[in-house]
Amino acid sequence: MQKLVIRGEKRLSGEMTVQGAKNSALPLLAGCVLCSGEVTLKNCPSLSDVFASCRILNCLGCKSRYHDHCVTVNASALSECAVPEDLMREMRSSIVFLGALLGRAGECELSFPGGCELGPRPIDMHLGALAQMGVQINEEFGVLCCRCPHGLHGAKISLSFPSVGATENIMLAAALAKGDTVIYNAAREPEITDLGDFLCSCGARISGHGTSTVAISGVSSLHGCEYEVMPDRIAAATYMSAAALTGGELDLKNARACDMQAVIPVFEQMGCQVFTYENRIFINCKRPLKAVRTVRTMPYPGFPTDAQAVVMAALTRARGTSVIVENIFCSRYRHVDELVRMGADIKTEGKVAVVEGVKRLYGARVRAADLRGGAALVLAGLAAQGETEVENVCYIDRGYENIEKCLRDAGASIVRVTE
Ligand code: EPU
Repeated sequence: MQKLVIRGEKRLSGEMTVQGAKNSALPLLAGCVLCSGEVTLKNCPSLSDVFASCRILNCLGCKSRYHDHCVTVNASALSECAVPEDLMREMRSSIVFLGALLGRAGECELSFPGGCELGPRPIDMHLGALAQMGVQINEEFGVLCCRCPHGLHGAKISLSFPSVGATENIMLAAALAKGDTVIYNAAREPEITDLGDFLCSCGARISGHGTSTVAISGVSSLHGCEYEVMPDRIAAATYMSAAALTGGELDLKNARACDMQAVIPVFEQMGCQVFTYENRIFINCKRPLKAVRTVRTMPYPGFPTDAQAVVMAALTRARGTSVIVENIFCSRYRHVDELVRMGADIKTEGKVAVVEGVKRLYGARVRAADLRGGAALVLAGLAAQGETEVENVCYIDRGYENIEKCLRDAGASIVRVTE
């Protein structure tokens, strides 16, 4: 068991390089299954979820190797279509192997994915879409057995909600399917654009990715390529919150402001100055922060649910009352009780959280219950008086590469302790 021990009230300043995006790297790694040549993914973050994806690839008979933020995958020797249950449980995003394996092999077997700490996370839209494409799905004892007796074919698919994972699974399956697929009401997240661009670099014919209508014309094979994973917009938002909470200034390199159009104005409303350049964001914050108008999480281009917890951490110290409405996941306020233990004044009811800014947060022993909520506790610890211990660091490690080093390099007092 590891924990992060933070001595708060240190102002952050300096330069920081933002990691590659977890939520892009994972579907890209699954996408490698479709390619008959070698793929090199650069700027791949060093995260437990990335390593779990590499283990899945190796179990499937592909060869994957991680070295210094670069993953090479050769899927030409794919020999297995079943993902072991323990690896499926390790991370929710393992579900994208469903579309990739069906696309490549026309069959697959996997259990329902893990990572359910945000509440129930159904995959009905993924399965419904794949059924439209000719997949027969049998579920027995939590294991999904999928076959395409007449081959995988294109279809016109309307999603009832722009699900990120369902859009990715359909794109992956459709890239090698027979004929044309159109996804209506597709997710528009930048990670979807990255997946589409990656697949096109491998020879896929995809257009409209990044808009709500994505068209995919199936091709007979995909080749390898070299591709650079996009910067992590949620890690960037997290470090912007760290600057806000500590009244600091950070120069974030490898940060793309164009992906953060709903996030940057929230920091500006808090009173922070934000300057954006190509692939760089500079944030300068003076305390006290100001409360903000209602922040509503929405599918992209709305405010991202993944940035809700870290922005809430900053708002605990803002002067006035801020309101947050979480519209994407039903159980994404698990960090609230822990922030309250640190002196925050937050009330939640259903989707709504009302945050009354307080003058001071106090160090406490708190526990991460999920990835982003865990990061929010670390940020609160940076601003708190005294010492904060954040337990269950394994959640944070799923999405933040060496969070303590990034923050320490910018002046924070934070260490990882193994118990
Ligand atoms: N949903 C359904 N049925 C489905 C699919 C989704 O009801 O078949 C619901 C979900 O229960 C949820 C909503 O639709 O309430 C959104 O789910 P979505 O499918 O869009 O999310 P996801 O693909 O499971 C990805 C990210 C999440 C991020 C969400 C929303 C990855 C690996 N995960 O999840 O990231 O919160 O999109 O943007 O890309 C994180 O990084 O901390 C994280 C949880």
